[in-house]
Parts: sequence; structure tokens; C-alpha cells
Amino acid sequence: MFFLSKISLTQFKNYQFSSFDFTERVIGICGLNGKGKTNLLDAAYYCCFTKSYFTKADALNAQFDSDGFRIEAKLINGDKTDGIVCIFRGTGKKEILLNNVPYTKLSEHIGKYPAVMVAPDDISLITDGSEERRRFVDTVLSQMDGGYLQQLVIYNKVLQQRNSLLKSFAEQGKTDWQLLEVLDEQLILPGEFIFAKRKAFTEALIPGVQKFYSRIADNDEVITLQYDSQLNESSFYGLLNNYRQKDFTLQRSNAGIHKDDLLFQLNGQVFKTTASQGQRKSLLFALKLAEFELLKENKGFAPLLLLDDVFEKLDDTRMHQLLHWVCNENSGQVFITDTHKERLREAFEKLNTAYQIIEL
Ligand SMILES: Nc1ncnc2c1ncn2[C@@H]1O[C@H](COP(=O)(O)OP(=O)(O)O)[C@@H](O)[C@H]1O
Ligand SMILES: [Mg+2]
Repeated sequence: MFFLSKISLTQFKNYQFSSFDFTERVIGICGLNGKGKTNLLDAAYYCCFTKSYFTKADALNAQFDSDGFRIEAKLINGDKTDGIVCIFRGTGKKEILLNNVPYTKLSEHIGKYPAVMVAPDDISLITDGSEERRRFVDTVLSQMDGGYLQQLVIYNKVLQQRNSLLKSFAEQGKTDWQLLEVLDEQLILPGEFIFAKRKAFTEALIPGVQKFYSRIADNDEVITLQYDSQLNESSFYGLLNNYRQKDFTLQRSNAGIHKDDLLFQLNGQVFKTTASQGQRKSLLFALKLAEFELLKENKGFAPLLLLDDVFEKLDDTRMHQLLHWVCNENSGQVFITDTHKERLREAFEKLNTAYQIIEL
């Protein structure tokens, strides 16, 4: 079990210098729009993932007119206290230190302090293209399995090389099939590794998604979830052979785990095209909570749960269902932001659990 007990931000987004002490397991963060609620959650996320949940480029997290930032966090981990320091320098260099020891590879930090974020724009996980869902799966698996991230990095690197090679075939008007085969061989191992992990992960995720969906939606609609991959039908080796001509014509790789998707159905209908807005929100929460449970099972302790503006997303009954699970049935630390202090306080009071409210 771990708790975030303190976080200090220097030149991180809208925070010039601010420090927050967290004394309870359930933390409410309230403030008007633009006060920095989301940014504060993101700083906590940063300490767990060595990157922002929202912005790809680190430089965008530095306060306007400054070129670096620093986040310091204190985490209580059983009977010891861990200190995490994240430094981003103007030179573009990033350093993460755990108890004053810098990591040589940042990926080694990922998964030590698991976290799950639910943010307003996450509905894109349900409605947008397959890339969002692959990213979701990759984020969870990277925290559960150190080897996964490594294999994914290798796969993406070889895939890039393969695509460049296919382009060069067209540009130079000559083909080197042997070199392509060498790259195919390098792609197969990480590809099949990732496929096996994603397949097992999806299967493990299904019962949780169904449980949480029926709980949040409070009805007996049936959600099903399927891992959609070309590798379900054929070996990766076979696929690469079958797609060779198409790859050559289109000058990019058309077979592999970079085409994977998760398919949802509601009462037998394709979810994406038929579900209502409320049903989409319910599925989003069901997915995130199922992710949370799997991570917890894998780690043996609860991840941090970061819920951004969830009151805006769900009606009162659904909200209460969710909060009850999050705050009473779950043992981990949870951060919830809201623009209305009284709404937050009332919701917490109903739960009869100790809580802390921070006003920005
Ligand atoms: N790099 C940055 N430097 C300074 N301010 C920033 C930076 N990035 C975002 N902000 C500011 O942070 C504020 C938004 O904070 P946010 O956490 O999204 O607010 P909230 O969630 O409370 O509505 C905005 O006023 C925005 O201008
Ligand atoms: Mg916000």
C-alpha cells in the first residue's frame, strides 16, 4: 500500500511554487475552472509515470516563460517513506530520482507506483480510433510487466525501419527482399510476445468490465469485449508473408500488432456506433475500474486513483455508486477534483469515511 503524503511543484504548469500535504486516504481538490486542479492530478501522475497524462512534450509542462520544472513527492510505502524527484531542465534533459538515486533508465520506474487516471477527455478511449485503445492496453501492461514495455519499444523501432525500407524500395526502384526478411524476423518475436500479453490481459479484463458496467449503469445490459488482432487468425510469420505484396504497394506495414483493437458490444450491437452518451461514460468508468483491479491484483496493493471532474460526467445515483466503491470498498488513496466544494463535501459526508478537502 502506498500513499502520496506530500507534493511540491516548482514552475510546473500554472504553479510557480506550491506545496500540498495530503493527510487522508480520500482527497477532494476543489477550485474554480483554471485554478490548477487537473494540473495537480497530473503532477501526481507524473511522479508515477515519469510523464504527463495530457501533454506529450515535457517542455509544455514548464510554466510559461520558464524552461524547466521540478516535482517532488513524498510517498508513504508501508513503514518507509520514499522520495521521488522529477526534474526537467531547459536543456531538454529529464532526471527522475528515487530516494536521491537517479534512474539510468526511466522505464525502470514505471509500475513501482501504479496509478489510474480518469479525465474528461478519456471518453475518446471509447469513441476514437484504435490507437487510443492500444495506448490504454499498453499503459496498463507496462505497469504490470517490465518486459512488455521493452518489447514494445523494440517492436516499434523495427516497424519504423521496415516502413522506411518499404518506402526506399519505391524511391530507389529496386527491392531487397532479403533485408526485408531480416527485419521480419526481428519483428516476429516482440510481435508475438505483445500479442500473447494483450490477449491474456483482455481476457482478464472482461469480468471486471462487466461487473463494473452493470454496477454503474445499474441495469442488465450485457457488455462484451473482444481483442481484435490479425494474429488471432494466423501466425505473425504467415501474416507477414501474405501481406508482403500489399506492403510493397502501399509502402508500409499492414500486418502486425500495431493494427490491434478492442471491440465492445452492447446487447450484441457494436458499442461505438449504438451506445448513448450515458452508456459510453459507464463503459469508460467500467474499463478504468477494471484496469484498477487488475493492477491491484498484479501489484498486491492498490494504485493511486486520480478522478478528474467526475461529478460532471455522471448523474447522482451513478456518482454515489462509484464513490461508494472507490472510497469504501477500495483501500487505496483516491484524489477527486470538483468545481463545487459543497457538492464534494456532501458526497464525502454520505460515505462516512475520513477525507480531506484542499481548496485551490
Ligand atoms: N505551461 C503552463 N504555464 C503556465 N500556466 C499553464 C501552463 N499550462 C497550463 N497552464 C494554466 O493552467 C490553468 C489550467 O489549469 P487546470 O489544472 O487545467 O485547471 P482546472 O483543472 O482547475 O480547471 C490554465 O489557466 C492554464 O493557462
Ligand atoms: Mg480541470
